[in-house]
Amino acid sequence: MARILITSALPYINGIKHLGNLVGSQLPADLYARYMRARGHEVMFICATDEHGPPAELAAAKTGESVADYCARMHGVQTELARGFALSFDHYGRSSSPENHALTQHFAARLGAAGLIEERREKQVYSPTDGRFLPDRYIEGTCPACGYERARGDQCENCTKQLEPTDLINPRSAVSGATDLEVRETRHLYLRQSKLRDTLDAWIDRQQGWPVLTTSIAKKWLHDGDGLQDRGITRDLDWGVPAQFEGAPWQGMEGKVFYVWFDAPIEYIAATAEWAREHGHKAEAWRRWWRTDEGAGDVRYVQFMGKDNVPFHTLSFPAPLIGSGEPWKMVDYIKSFNYLNYDGGQFSTSLGRGVFMDQALSILPSDYWRWWLLSHAPESGDAEFPWENFQGSVNKDLADVLGNFVSRVTKFCRSKFGEAVPEGGAYGPREAQLITDLTSRLQAYMRHMDAIEIRKAAAELRALWVLGNEYLQDAAPWSTHKTDPAQAAAQIRLSLNLIRLYAIVAQPFIPEASARIMAALGSSDWTWPEDVAAALDHLPAGHGFTVPDVLFAKISDESRAEWETRFAGQR
Ligand code: 2FM
Ligand code: ZN
Repeated sequence: MARILITSALPYINGIKHLGNLVGSQLPADLYARYMRARGHEVMFICATDEHGPPAELAAAKTGESVADYCARMHGVQTELARGFALSFDHYGRSSSPENHALTQHFAARLGAAGLIEERREKQVYSPTDGRFLPDRYIEGTCPACGYERARGDQCENCTKQLEPTDLINPRSAVSGATDLEVRETRHLYLRQSKLRDTLDAWIDRQQGWPVLTTSIAKKWLHDGDGLQDRGITRDLDWGVPAQFEGAPWQGMEGKVFYVWFDAPIEYIAATAEWAREHGHKAEAWRRWWRTDEGAGDVRYVQFMGKDNVPFHTLSFPAPLIGSGEPWKMVDYIKSFNYLNYDGGQFSTSLGRGVFMDQALSILPSDYWRWWLLSHAPESGDAEFPWENFQGSVNKDLADVLGNFVSRVTKFCRSKFGEAVPEGGAYGPREAQLITDLTSRLQAYMRHMDAIEIRKAAAELRALWVLGNEYLQDAAPWSTHKTDPAQAAAQIRLSLNLIRLYAIVAQPFIPEASARIMAALGSSDWTWPEDVAAALDHLPAGHGFTVPDVLFAKISDESRAEWETRFAGQR
């Protein structure tokens, strides 16, 4: 049994995430966590809300709540949605936790002591009316490129042009609307990442078998232009981890906080400490996942994220881990994803374009979404969400192939043999062939799941379901029953056991349907079917079952058309 540490990129606290966000990290991470647990491994699956930075402050200002209240409420909302999608986190933490404050300040202290932090002076926009420096995105004005009047100081949302606050025409504070903005000098701390460049480069080179998408992004940041740049790690904000060093102030940094991207990945570790606290474990319980001197040397650590997060996980997070000089567990494998686009364009939170997690659950059960998203995961390039494809995939794969097999077998058994596994004769050559075919498909499925090749794994899973349907069609127990009821009974006994095997192996993809199938079959033994032949003999003759309600309802053309219009934009 191995120990597997799995982290999903932390969703920002502000707003509800769309399906593109979900499939870019949390959902595939959940798939892998569920699979690894199902195979008998010890898993620690961590996620959390990323709560600091300007977006949280701005969102709270809009709702009129304090930032702390806003974050607490939104953490609750995101927790519920995670539950709705059956995301099986061992802990869903908060980057604003006391654990993360302490750990972030600990890393800062270690990096400071190692001479890896220095102070620099820079110019920044100050708002006398607000009595504060304004981060770039707190400044709004007219875009010089397209004339959009609500462009932000870092980027115009309308034409996507990257901007400096001083580019804006008629700049104003997004906090108060004040226009009396000035440029003033301020001081910030920088992490001297450039000093770690060779160490990071060598570390990347030692990683075997990482996806090209991951290593190419890291190499680009290491070597393009002037190479890896030092990085500002403090901000003039109120909300965040105070820029202190294990409680001790750094003179001149009073009132400043650490930059959100400095404390966010540290929350992976801190969230594991939150888990230990909430479950009443001792500190060792989390340290054995994170400190190689306390047992984490045996851990395999896998991270999941969208491609935009790769530089932060290949360089910005490893830099403090290495720079601390302490034996922290480093990531072993980074699974990164391209983007999922929405029906010919981008998902847009502000325009309400596309399906968001709450809306998805309000129209269909989570398994429908999980199946489509995972079986179409944007692994090799950006992918699209077309409604027609979604409808086709649900109706064919889930309803016609898996759902129909379950329904036909259980209903036929009930009508001919009653609601118990029939006795029948021994399995014959047709069954032996099926077992051979299932075994080889299952092996392929496991290979893809081990390699986190999600689309390929989904295709093998579907192929396993197809084998069952083909067997049933070929064996035709409804005909056999007329001439040889004992043989028909054996065919049905095998098919009922095959339904159970499907529930177990499909559980990482469609956990709720799997649980319903297992409940209908009266089985609570989820042991992975290492030996297919043995698994197809698992439910003995006489074992009672019930016919489950329709597992997957088909999506009608009318519903599809209605949803297509509803989610086209302007939420
Ligand atoms: O891009 C994002 O959504 C970030 N909130 C991801 C943070 S991941 C981590 F390092 F915390
Ligand atoms: Zn513009």
